[in-house]
Amino acid sequence: MAVVEASMAARTREREFASIARVLHGSDEVTIEWTDGRQSRFAAIWLLDNRPDGRHSPEGQRLFDVAELPEEPTIAAAALTGGNLRVEFASGGTTAVYAADWLRRHALDAASRAERQERRRLWDKSLAANLPTGRYAEVAQGGRALAAWLAHVRDCGFALLTGVPAESGMVCRVIELFGCVRETNYGRLFDVVSVENPANLAYTGLALGNHTDNPYRDPVPQLQLLHCLEAAEEGGESIAVDGFFAADRLRRAHPGDFALLTRHAVPFRYVEKGKVDLQCTAPLIKLDADGQVRAVRYNNRSAAPFDLPEDVIVPYYRAYRRFSRLLHEPDAAAGFKLGSGDLFVVDNQRVLHGRRGFGKGRRHLQGAYSDKDGLLSKLRVLEGS
Ligand code: FE2
Repeated sequence: MAVVEASMAARTREREFASIARVLHGSDEVTIEWTDGRQSRFAAIWLLDNRPDGRHSPEGQRLFDVAELPEEPTIAAAALTGGNLRVEFASGGTTAVYAADWLRRHALDAASRAERQERRRLWDKSLAANLPTGRYAEVAQGGRALAAWLAHVRDCGFALLTGVPAESGMVCRVIELFGCVRETNYGRLFDVVSVENPANLAYTGLALGNHTDNPYRDPVPQLQLLHCLEAAEEGGESIAVDGFFAADRLRRAHPGDFALLTRHAVPFRYVEKGKVDLQCTAPLIKLDADGQVRAVRYNNRSAAPFDLPEDVIVPYYRAYRRFSRLLHEPDAAAGFKLGSGDLFVVDNQRVLHGRRGFGKGRRHLQGAYSDKDGLLSKLRVLEGS
């Protein structure tokens, strides 16, 4: 995929070309001038906390606690040595050598930090023309094919996998390629087929509005996989919508509404009498510490009566309806029909899924959940970062 290839190429360039041109220092920080003109400042306390001999092994765990460090460490000398940075601290006679490429990868200047930001590719219905896809026969071998498929999930929050044997349990086998199955009240895996009088509307032939799964769980399952064992003869197309794209549109067009949905948490609930009563209260749009959208939670079927201050209810509903319309905009929805042996995975905190109603024929999917940190860990290992 172009996004991934570009980022790997950028990393290679960084390793090849970024070296230290000059080292300056005061008593409380070191400034590095890089050969590409970038400048990075490193505080004495940060350098002391991250000195290489402070860890069990180069990427291993730290051997001391921050409280053991002097409150205001000072730098006695700093110089370039063999292309790397050598620092002598005034206190305790500590000396440390920091590899140039390590410093570059951890530099705290704005440009370096921006490079480390999560890569996101927002998308709309046009994704359907070129769905991020892997072939099971190749992905199951691991290596580059698996990395490329997992990178689609990281960057787009969605990936299709074709040619998965249409056998019960294969959805869990696919998860085991990158992580662990997250078992829920629905079991290790669950079947989505038409049944009489179901507790969950998923088990009818009705259309399902776009939603994220299990919003009533805390923590919410971060990945959902659905594997098609039998496709409906007519209808039953699947839909995927980028919730981050819709949130971005809401933020631009109606910033006040966006703020309301991030500021207030609302309850979700799922009940099966005598079996489960799952409840979770969370914002529809969750931000990270930098104000970036971190998660979207949307499920009209499981939304419980909103428990908000009286004066907030009316403006909140206005914001909620606007967000809902954006999540159901035809130009936002990537539609695709699963054939037998197709499987798709969604980032359940980003991408909503839904389906059009189906009439003729039996449709049988098997689903399972997993968590994204396991997927990202596997991807980092495969990419050798
Ligand atoms: Fe669902």
